[in-house]
Amino acid sequence: HMEENIENLVIGSGYGGAVAALRLTQAGKKVVMLEMGLDWEKDDGKHKPFSDLITPKNNSTWLKKSSQAPMMNIAHFNRKFTGVLDRLDFENIKVYAGRGVGGGSLVNGGMAVQPKKAYFQEIFPDLNVDKFWNTYFPLAQKELDVNEIPDDYYEQSPYYKFARVGESEAHKAGFETVRVPNVYSFEYMKKEEAGEVPKSALGKEVIYGNNHGKQSLEKTYLKKALKTGLLIIQDLHRVDYVEETKNGYAVYVDIIDTAGLVIAKKTINCKKLFLNAGSMGTTKLLLTSMHKGKMTNFDASVGSNWGNNGNVMTGRNMVNTLFNRVENDATDANFSTGTGSKQSTIPVSGVDNWEDKKHAFFAEISPLPMGLEVYTALYLIINKVPVPGRISYDPSLDDIRVHWEEKNFKHTVKNAKYFIKKMNKANGGTPSGLLWKGGYGPDICYHPLGGAVIGKTTDLFGRVKGYKNLYITDGALVPASIGVNPFLTITALAEYCMEEIIKTDFSED
Ligand code: FDA
Repeated sequence: HMEENIENLVIGSGYGGAVAALRLTQAGKKVVMLEMGLDWEKDDGKHKPFSDLITPKNNSTWLKKSSQAPMMNIAHFNRKFTGVLDRLDFENIKVYAGRGVGGGSLVNGGMAVQPKKAYFQEIFPDLNVDKFWNTYFPLAQKELDVNEIPDDYYEQSPYYKFARVGESEAHKAGFETVRVPNVYSFEYMKKEEAGEVPKSALGKEVIYGNNHGKQSLEKTYLKKALKTGLLIIQDLHRVDYVEETKNGYAVYVDIIDTAGLVIAKKTINCKKLFLNAGSMGTTKLLLTSMHKGKMTNFDASVGSNWGNNGNVMTGRNMVNTLFNRVENDATDANFSTGTGSKQSTIPVSGVDNWEDKKHAFFAEISPLPMGLEVYTALYLIINKVPVPGRISYDPSLDDIRVHWEEKNFKHTVKNAKYFIKKMNKANGGTPSGLLWKGGYGPDICYHPLGGAVIGKTTDLFGRVKGYKNLYITDGALVPASIGVNPFLTITALAEYCMEEIIKTDFSED
């Protein structure tokens, strides 16, 4: 059993953790960061290349014997491995998460979307929206290397036919669409298409990791933090729980191998502790520490105000048989085009129906890069979550439960049905039952949010109530939904919290 004594410990290397690490090290503080997944860059990247969507290897999947994508090919492996994409299965919901140094940035679609100002204010009534719009969102965009797809490239690339068709179909159905920024480099993508560099987004890589092109956190925040020389990142370090001590916190860690077996145990004593294990991980740490670490001073809100950002995955069959073309009296534009056999994995557009009070949603126009024309339009719909769910700890499982019922998601299915119906009426097609039973997947969650909400479980700067020197600056702070893909908001929130924490809580050192 090992024991270490340090000053500042960050648990988790996603957006919240990366911002904390950069701002602490820039302020001259030494930081140790723990990550349960792999450092994919170590030993010359020997566990890479990452898998593409079509032929996942065991590095695609966190400690399971088959791949877990919501669609696409399911592959079986001989050996479990600490792969990059995890799926946490609960009673009514399956939550996806990235594993490894960089967290969700390793597996996500890179969409860096700023929420609606009015909705941000509704979700965070006590935060200064103008300050966020003038300072923290622009800062997050700059540090994350956000860029936009050039119009001319978007208009002509065969790899974005799916998006162009998606937009024009939406317009036909009377919806408005928007182009959304991304952290995938479109300069790189253009070179991919020209055959000048290895293909990544155009080579079907995304949810199992991108080998090129994406400015994930190990290339931005974490790289900058490491450059200070003050950050040490320890991978395959999974925190079990935390206990309060005289001088701070004792953090109990299982060190695992790439098969997921515990090979050593370590206790790290630290003065200041930053919990940034993501909405699921941070909430689990809080609840487990309540139970095993006797940390009973938390605010009663811990575990509540949780949601899936109103995620529903749905799609349409753009039926392309001669029969249907005649039956529906459709023009070629409707039925002969499909979404293309070539598709970039990086979404760049969405249907913005946010102003429709009865059916407020944002629908990401998603690719389905199967490598052949599948005549399927795919959407990840994002909704409000007016009735949030809850996370609890079950000692008999030594794990969390997610309480997510019909009342929490029924409006999301209603909105999805409304959207698909209108799209089909204007463009032809049927709900895609091929992909999900009934064609609607409200049990999917790419965007877990909440469980330790700002202003409730923490103060207005991420300081955990009931304790000193204990902080949260990740997706757990956001109450259940933000209405668009969340990482830009999480990054901006973390920047805002860290500015205050460093200014005030470190002034005595
Ligand atoms: P995040 O999950 O990023 O990081 C937490 C880290 O802590 C992980 O690395 C984890 O392994 C580690 N950890 C957890 N428990 C631990 C423990 N006990 N001990 C040690 N380490 C632990 N968002 C968006 O804005 N645009 C997009 O296009 C997409 N697309 C998308 C696709 C897919 C497939 C997924 C799964 C998700 C997205 N997202 C997204 C969501 C986005 O990635 C997500 O909101 C952020 O990564 C959340 O950032 P956090 O810092 O909160 O946690």
